[in-house]
Amino acid sequence: MLGPDGVLHAIAAPSAPFDRVRRRNPLQFAPELTPREARLRVAPGARDLGRGVEAPLLLVNDALPSPTLRVRRGEEFSARMENGIDDPLILHWHGLTAPDDMDGHPRFAVDPGERYDYRFRVNDRPGTYWYHSHTHHRTGRHTYFGIGGLLIVEDPEAERDLPPKERELPIILQDRRLGDDGSLVYDPVGPSMMNGFMGPEALANGTLDTFAEVEPAVYRARILNGSNARIFRLARSDDRSMTLIANDGGLLERPVSLPWVDVAPAERVELLLDFREGNEGDRVMLRSLSFDPPGGMMGGGMMGGQMAIAYQQGRPLDLLEFRVSGQTTDPGFLPESLPSMPGLPDPAASVRERHFAFTSRMMMHRINGREFEMERIDEEVPFGDTEIWTFENDGNYPHPVHLHATHFRVLDRRGGRGQIFPWEAGRKDTVLVYPGEAVRVAVRFTAERGLFLLHCHNLEHEDHGMMQNILVV
Ligand code: C2O
Ligand code: CU
Ligand code: CU
Repeated sequence: MLGPDGVLHAIAAPSAPFDRVRRRNPLQFAPELTPREARLRVAPGARDLGRGVEAPLLLVNDALPSPTLRVRRGEEFSARMENGIDDPLILHWHGLTAPDDMDGHPRFAVDPGERYDYRFRVNDRPGTYWYHSHTHHRTGRHTYFGIGGLLIVEDPEAERDLPPKERELPIILQDRRLGDDGSLVYDPVGPSMMNGFMGPEALANGTLDTFAEVEPAVYRARILNGSNARIFRLARSDDRSMTLIANDGGLLERPVSLPWVDVAPAERVELLLDFREGNEGDRVMLRSLSFDPPGGMMGGGMMGGQMAIAYQQGRPLDLLEFRVSGQTTDPGFLPESLPSMPGLPDPAASVRERHFAFTSRMMMHRINGREFEMERIDEEVPFGDTEIWTFENDGNYPHPVHLHATHFRVLDRRGGRGQIFPWEAGRKDTVLVYPGEAVRVAVRFTAERGLFLLHCHNLEHEDHGMMQNILVV
């Protein structure tokens, strides 16, 4: 945690060793696609997740993970989504500020066999975003079975001091449960309905037990926590620090060196991983450290015995092994500064406050006592006004709270952890609120008017209605 000096202190105990002899699968990278008259066909498919058998999935363009979309800031994004699955479907561009009929609100979900055309200009800051299904009651299932990929916004001028594209590692981290036959199990009932659905295995880019070869150089890892409910605490097994350069809202104002970083579902971090001092054959595990989730249920607490431990929030997981090999004459460097960030909402300019209570209890997930209704407008927010919103968690389960159509600035956190963390600086579209916490953010909509969403990004909570309609007028 943060010390009195405001510095995040190193992990007390050195990291436990990891299994070096285990057979590992090479990390797969998603195919890359430019969203210019692109076609995104969503359909059933199958892939080996690393157990040697094909598991039934839902895939975009038959790829796992779904294609990575790369676009330059200021360019037009155009794509046609074709729904080849048995459910209604709509895709959402998480973190982009698209017009309301392009943003993937569930009221636009199209029936099986139909399509949806997207066209809008990308004005968002360079960074790592993602896309996923936003079908009401089905987002958890669709994401779990494979619909979802990274969306990268580039700005070559702003990014000139960062590692080149060949040294980028786009990584989607997700936990899963696998059945004895090697296929995915998704059964969000009982305790999973309250905790959200967690599993004891970790996938990196859709595969179990992965490794990636790296040169002795600096890499830019673009990391998305694409889990339905699991929070990761990322760290290196060699206890070296990592350099955080970006989060949900893109590049930060300055790089910060950290021993570990928490990422909740839907949050992104970009980390510079320095292997320059690595020798041929060195191995480093990217892992999620064990932690005690503050203030409440551990997840799986009602299950008892082994099961409880395997599915718990905060259990340690090894995520991805890096193997150092080869040589390079151009190892790269850690930049001292990053491009400046204009126009963060100023809390002193606030003209209004709003309060949102996130409550999970008795098999219900609600915001301000209400369950989502497709046509009900929950809040009307004037375009351009600065407001202070409080997200309060008055139940027993963590909530990664997400807002569409803008990025907010995290002001403070009361109760629980009682502080804000370096990865919550700058602009955010998702913020983690643990039981007993109230997080205040400054919000201002400056991109689009229309109907957008505020919701919990624990996908089981969202599917059960922990979501509101926000009308920007
Ligand atoms: Cu990542 Cu409303 O979504
Ligand atoms: Cu979103
Ligand atoms: Cu939640």
